[in-house]
Amino acid sequence: MKHRLEQSTKALNTLIEKRGNKFYPQFHLAAPAGWLNDPNGLIYHDGLYHAFYQHHPYSQDWGPMHWGHATSTDMIHWQHQPIALAPGDDYDKSGCFSGSAISHEGKLYLFYTGHNWLAAEGDDSQIYEAQCVAISEDGIHFEKKGIVLEPPKGYMHFRDPKVWYQDGKWWMVVGARDEKDQGQVLLFSSETLFEEGQQWNNDYTVLGKTDDKNVYMWECPDFFPISQENEFAIVFSPQGKRAEGYQYRNLFQSGALIGQWSPNQPFKPQGHFIELDNGHDYYAPQSFTTPDGRRVSMGWMDMWNSPMPSKSEFWSGCFTLPREITFDKSKNRLRMIPVKEVESLRQEKQTIQPLTLSNQSIELINNTTAIELDLTLSLDSHAEKFGLWLGKGLELFVDNQSNRLVLNRHYPQHNMSGARSIPLPEGCELNLRIFIDRSSIEVFVNKGEFTFSSRYYAQQDTQTLRFFAMNGDATLINGQYWQLNSIY
Ligand code: FRU
Repeated sequence: MKHRLEQSTKALNTLIEKRGNKFYPQFHLAAPAGWLNDPNGLIYHDGLYHAFYQHHPYSQDWGPMHWGHATSTDMIHWQHQPIALAPGDDYDKSGCFSGSAISHEGKLYLFYTGHNWLAAEGDDSQIYEAQCVAISEDGIHFEKKGIVLEPPKGYMHFRDPKVWYQDGKWWMVVGARDEKDQGQVLLFSSETLFEEGQQWNNDYTVLGKTDDKNVYMWECPDFFPISQENEFAIVFSPQGKRAEGYQYRNLFQSGALIGQWSPNQPFKPQGHFIELDNGHDYYAPQSFTTPDGRRVSMGWMDMWNSPMPSKSEFWSGCFTLPREITFDKSKNRLRMIPVKEVESLRQEKQTIQPLTLSNQSIELINNTTAIELDLTLSLDSHAEKFGLWLGKGLELFVDNQSNRLVLNRHYPQHNMSGARSIPLPEGCELNLRIFIDRSSIEVFVNKGEFTFSSRYYAQQDTQTLRFFAMNGDATLINGQYWQLNSIY
């Protein structure tokens, strides 16, 4: 692998020199150049947070998958590290696909999928996928150890291992597609994490499976406890789901199934699949635990097959902010808020005076290159619609006709248009915590009850944020914002 790592580093360095910055994030993790997709191997190990990611260091497009790597002391400020994994061995000829990390007895273990095209490159009808491991003593350089789990009979699409330790055993969930082309999550266990020359037993149970005949694959499964009472969430990214009304509008979705589980018992779902995020760009989230016991998750803030104008700058793809996940038992759903560490990016606090507008708009912030904004709006309004305009192409507004909060983007020059929305939360006030970076917006509604993550691509570097009310009045009860420091 050493030679291939050197080659890919060289290629990456050439891209870094060409990389443009108009869309490059100021406070979200992205590859230094080239392509990035799923978060991989998120973990706290030996005093540092590690984030790996699906990476193609040779270009801004998806290609043979490597694992990029960054480390951080606070999950916010990241330092790029050398590429961790390069594909090309017998068991990962066509790519080192997604997976997870384990910190064990001082070593860092990466579990990933060795992906192999058996016919033509890109021909998904003939592939071989098996789970592999690579180990590091220093947290930076990894030695591949080959396959640790072969696919059980009948499974060809079999990827994205997530490993954890519980009740005296190691457990692994893997995303799969059965012989009838139905998405599933398979569960494996092992007494030992890794032993030279040995594999995990590939006896499995089906932890969860689709009840929607269109869903042919569950990618990137994650499985974790959400209460003290054996309640767990399976978070996964189904492929094939059809749009239904306001839901499942992205090409693929990511969401959670909540249920009861204990080792050696089947998972008993209570409720149905709920999307974790409601924006245009959110996929393949992965979670880990912090030393103080928080469950934190990051997702890929993009979507397969969507236009990615940053490719003109020789990079594509970034993560969401790290988000703390909690379980709202009364609503039987997960909530996400940004981890408290993001507050370390804030410059001086600016206050927005309360105001009521009638059929007009007013500038709130002139430079929105990197800001956090906290607004409380009154829902007692008769305006047809009211909310925020960001530059020319983006609007976040309350639609009083459909009773929904809508995030609409319109960038015809990039072939990128469309609205995502959520039902208006109950109550007479709406709290919006918003993070705007050079090409992304994240909105946390009512302290994480709902979130929107979307990319946007404006013409200018800086643009204004305006508050508007159309055909009626609207009241901003209070607001504050901070310019944010760059993490680079
Ligand atoms: C999800 C995914 C994974 C796969 C990886 C390949 O976005 O398709 O299932 O491991 O991306 O880059």
